[in-house]
Amino acid sequence: MDRIRITGGIPLEGDIPISGAKNAALPLMAASLLTDEPLQLANLPHLMDISTLANLLTSLGVDITMEGDATEDGHIGRVLTLTSGDLSGATAPYDLVRKMRASILVLGPLLARAGEAQVSLPGGCAIGTRPVDLHLDGLTELGAEIELTDGYIQARAPRGLTGSIIRFPKASVGATENLLMAATLADGETVLENAAREPEVADLSNCLVSMGAVIEGIGTDRLVISGVPHLTGARYRVMPDRVETGTFAIAAAITGGDLTLRHAQGALVNAVTEVMERAGVETWEDEDTLRVRRNGSAISAVDVITQPYPGFPTDMQAQVMALMAFSDGASMITETIFENRFMHVPELARMGADITISGSSAMVRGVKSLKGAPVMATDLRASVSLVLAGLAATGETLVNRVYHLDRGYERLVEKLAACGARIERISD
Ligand code: EPZ
Repeated sequence: MDRIRITGGIPLEGDIPISGAKNAALPLMAASLLTDEPLQLANLPHLMDISTLANLLTSLGVDITMEGDATEDGHIGRVLTLTSGDLSGATAPYDLVRKMRASILVLGPLLARAGEAQVSLPGGCAIGTRPVDLHLDGLTELGAEIELTDGYIQARAPRGLTGSIIRFPKASVGATENLLMAATLADGETVLENAAREPEVADLSNCLVSMGAVIEGIGTDRLVISGVPHLTGARYRVMPDRVETGTFAIAAAITGGDLTLRHAQGALVNAVTEVMERAGVETWEDEDTLRVRRNGSAISAVDVITQPYPGFPTDMQAQVMALMAFSDGASMITETIFENRFMHVPELARMGADITISGSSAMVRGVKSLKGAPVMATDLRASVSLVLAGLAATGETLVNRVYHLDRGYERLVEKLAACGARIERISD
């Protein structure tokens, strides 16, 4: 199994191209099920999760073709054309869903287009129990009949879906996306209240509008969707990855370096740059770049609470904790979205970090330095926080279970190495 070897202590300097957003690309790909015309998506990242969903869509009868899209700075966004002319099935099997929970995103579109769907129940995962009740309750509100049998969600809407007013008891990115897609083809008007405001939901909404959907309130927590009889094909460019942007911003800060992140949208990571500014890191935003620099100054301790957008993202919690491990004070980091998202803590502790967990909070007392060690983690963002810690630690860090990183960071090793990091991928 591949590992990443890092020899830390080098300030990173240079440019990093930011890829298309994984968490925007996945629902956009699922949206191709809503029309029999081609949906062309540009700036797709080359990631394991994208391949997993492509495999699932292919098994449902979606025809997928791909071309590269290299730009002058070596950024390779992919262009995928997805055509779901005649669907050959409506079943998302356990083997694919267990690899990636986001497979649940085919449920709403399949049901809306084919009138039925069978999707394996995703089950819990490393960061929490992650139920799908909000997805199922919402679809039931739209008139779907749903049964859970043999580990599968069996959903039927033989007479189609009907618009309704749905108030989510809790904001959920995936449930909002599933309901949004289903409602575009429902009969009449659907109102989604307490909808997730994450930019990836807005990206999906904008793409659906370009496919002929009628959606008001994009970017707010109240989405009003007027159903249409059918959607058309479209061409759409996936938004930049805000979590990748934030992760490299922390790479600059943690190593005391100076990075310019290209194809980024600074506005999407305001909650992260705000914390970094308070920690003494300088940031500059341009139209499509974000520059981040820490010039010899100490890292001040800052308290962080994860919140739904526009609050501080849970997907950046592990990375900011790695930064705070080097602060000159004590920082309280509170996780409010997932119940088990501190798997990086014992690994950071093995590198010398001083962190105490109490319930959903972690008290991080900054230390002068961390020491490289063999480490591993059980999810994507926890793994990348160990890479960040390794970049700033003294000595050698070996990050095991690289497949987590392959799920969500495109060419991570190359991008960091191009900015001076001593980092390599090794195969045993
Ligand atoms: C999305 O997951 C992202 N994944 C996650 O990114 C991200 O951490 C999360 O949103 C929060 O921002 C994708 O977009 C593919 P939720 P999602 O539904 O949609 C509870 C990464 O590292 N909930 O907004 O699954 C849930 O348990 C990943 O890239 C219910 O209770 O998240 C959680 O506590 C990890 N019932 C909270 O809501 C439901 O039916 C928010 O989850 C659904 C969710």
